[in-house]
Amino acid sequence: MSALFQNYARRSIHITEGKGTVVKDENGKSYLDFTSGIAVVSLGHAHPSIVKTLQVQSEKLWHISNLFESPAQEKLAETLTADTPLDCAFFCNSGAEANEAAIKLARKATGKHVIVTFEQSFHGRTTGAMAATGQDKVKQGFGPLMPEFRTVPFNDTEALKHAVKEDTAAIMLEVIQGEGGVNVIQESFARDIQELCDSMGVLLIIDEVQTGIGRTGTRYAFEQTPLVPDIVTLAKGLGGGFPIGSMLGTERLSTHFGPGTHGTTFGGNPLAVAVAQTVVDHVFDAVFLQEVKEKERVLREQLAPLLDLPEVKGLTGKGLMLGVVLHDEAAPIVQQAEENGLLLVPAGPNVIRMLPPLTVTEQELKEAAAILKQTILGHSKVKS
Ligand SMILES: Cc1ncc(COP(=O)(O)O)c(C=O)c1O
Repeated sequence: MSALFQNYARRSIHITEGKGTVVKDENGKSYLDFTSGIAVVSLGHAHPSIVKTLQVQSEKLWHISNLFESPAQEKLAETLTADTPLDCAFFCNSGAEANEAAIKLARKATGKHVIVTFEQSFHGRTTGAMAATGQDKVKQGFGPLMPEFRTVPFNDTEALKHAVKEDTAAIMLEVIQGEGGVNVIQESFARDIQELCDSMGVLLIIDEVQTGIGRTGTRYAFEQTPLVPDIVTLAKGLGGGFPIGSMLGTERLSTHFGPGTHGTTFGGNPLAVAVAQTVVDHVFDAVFLQEVKEKERVLREQLAPLLDLPEVKGLTGKGLMLGVVLHDEAAPIVQQAEENGLLLVPAGPNVIRMLPPLTVTEQELKEAAAILKQTILGHSKVKS
């Protein structure tokens, strides 16, 4: 018997090292990593700047707790909130924790309880974040769930209008639903949400755990929409592989998170903050972000021939968070692609998600698209 709980359906290869977009297994076989550890390794594996930051910081100070002032947290908070509608940051260790903070803050600030969320959303596995998640399979067996979450279909204004009432504290959403199938918000729906929030005095929580920190070609995905968030949650790409999460909020909300209201021992630990500062200093550079957009263009161009295959239904997503939508199950293609040297991750049952490091090269994008095409062609031959 394994000494580990079997809560992950792990793939059998054993990755031992990585550099940039390429990882190697214990037998020395190379793979193009188009998972980035599920949208985490934003600057690629073992980026020299992050390695250096971690080395330097690890010789200075690892941990001191939030009992003490932290100029490094202050600086990171300023970088994350600059030129956004947000003013303050709280640091934690994961996406689920960031969303727990958001749920607590929204309830405390408004004195209301209901949070409206969307079908196919994913907000994490802790009790509050799980209750917010719009996927039954995530919640099965874990009831009774935290009450007062109302879940409606995504991109459905009428359903949303019915759900948002006097008792509603916040609407919580992903601009692109990652785990749920790379489902992109419609511009008109985003406008309707904003109007509803403004007219009803309802807070807007945007979960940018997967879409944030340059993944879609802007610092945050909401910047490409008419949405003006009161709260934004981050994790994954923020630490480039070092665990860190964050909740950003407006000044108006900050008075509701005074001393003693919320906290965590490790959140904003000096190692995590030093690495995250290095990551955002790279990613928030206008030239870097423009390059992500250019890489999206290249990847879409390379993936376009897939649309002629009968197995492929379409392409979805933004930036370097693209989904190849299949008619059938994505898992067998993902498995076969791995054998062919390309690591991918499904989103929902029939979408292949492509999440390369933001530092991926044009050549790697071309190679990955070619492997994926060969894999789909090979798979259909075996089936016929
Ligand atoms: C949009 C979104 N929110 C929250 C989470 C949960 O983050 P974590 O696994 O760091 O708790 C995820 C993880 O996939 C996510 O994609």
